[in-house]
Amino acid sequence: MTTIEENVLLTETGPGTPCGEVMRCYWQPAALSEELPLGGAPVPLRLFSEDLVLFRDDQGRPGLLGIHCAHRGADLSYGRIEDGGLRCIYHGWLYDVSGRCLEQPGEPAGSTFHERVRKRAYPCREVGGIIFAYMGPGEPPALPPYEFITAPETHRSNSKVFQECNYLQANEGNLDPVHLSFLHRIFARETRGQQGLNAADTAPTIEAEETEWGVRIYSIRKAPPDQNYVRVTNYCLPNFSMVSGSAEGYTVNWHVPIDDEHHWYWQIRFSRLASKDDSPRWNTGRREEVGPDYRKVRNRANRYRQDRATMKTETFTGLGRNFLPHDSCATEGEGPVQDRTEEHLGATDRGIMAARSVLLRVIRQVQAGQDPPMVFRGAQAAEVPNVVVRNDVLIPNTVDWHNYWDDESVDQELVRA
Ligand code: FES
Ligand SMILES: [Fe+2]
Repeated sequence: MTTIEENVLLTETGPGTPCGEVMRCYWQPAALSEELPLGGAPVPLRLFSEDLVLFRDDQGRPGLLGIHCAHRGADLSYGRIEDGGLRCIYHGWLYDVSGRCLEQPGEPAGSTFHERVRKRAYPCREVGGIIFAYMGPGEPPALPPYEFITAPETHRSNSKVFQECNYLQANEGNLDPVHLSFLHRIFARETRGQQGLNAADTAPTIEAEETEWGVRIYSIRKAPPDQNYVRVTNYCLPNFSMVSGSAEGYTVNWHVPIDDEHHWYWQIRFSRLASKDDSPRWNTGRREEVGPDYRKVRNRANRYRQDRATMKTETFTGLGRNFLPHDSCATEGEGPVQDRTEEHLGATDRGIMAARSVLLRVIRQVQAGQDPPMVFRGAQAAEVPNVVVRNDVLIPNTVDWHNYWDDESVDQELVRA
């Protein structure tokens, strides 16, 4: 059982909190490159309960600073992009991307006061259409060269959406393969493929094993007469998951806290084989569900536009066919921060239990002054593990699913949705 103390430990990520300190050891997605075009407006941003401004200087470099001007606290997101930095509109102080104060035009000529002013600034790296930020102490580690961010632009897609709940409960949805047999049911699709297999066995066997990146989760559904439908998903420290994969590629769901009651749900998809122009894999229908402000069209305020008439004929939820409203309704419905002392975890929640225990252990490790797993320094950066993600394999029920991807003698049958 998760205690009140553990729940606080796992869910609070503001400055100085133990889990917040863990999160800050890793590069985290801060914004999409498209939010910050050259010459565009600075973006006010809240991350890990800190108010920040993200801007791109006139040379194209992204910078992430505390939002309040070091002079008398004006909001720098209204500032001017010019002269190698971001200039406050109140009295013209100018900051560069590293937080140095370059100018204080109201001070007497020859003043060196500006040299003694430094704003809090967090390093940024822009890769794969995403601006990542490092908000931790000391020298930043390497940004791991994950395949999903280094894939060519034509072979990946990124999106983000505002979620009205704590990051953890949303990420735990990724570690719970059983809800596929309920929450995401679309009746018309149940005659075939993955949807049919998920509907046919609603009580899969779930196994979880610890790995160097977090937890690997297997779900095994019986596929009569003599096969198993096996899915492999992964929890990756500290706040993302890899789901919905095949030999072609997979989907990353990354849940970045805004504060303890809101987060950005990033979805990064990539393909090793097919560009965006020639694979149905890219059409997730998400675009119709998310507005230009990265907010959901179906949301808590409009009860996700649930249409109860369609619950008889079309979907289990009455929330349309796109998975985003389904998952949002389920996880935001748990409350701003789920009270885990009230839950009753069953045999199907093994992935969630394993991920919590790994994260709790890592929190204690960081409290003891150690580097957490998956923080890469120097040459280690090239050693990002090859995380297997599959949701498309049927194998004979005589085969051990744990290592089936290593066993070339097994004739794997790909399941298409
Ligand atoms: S408050 Fe920003 S320059 Fe004065
Ligand atoms: Fe889901």
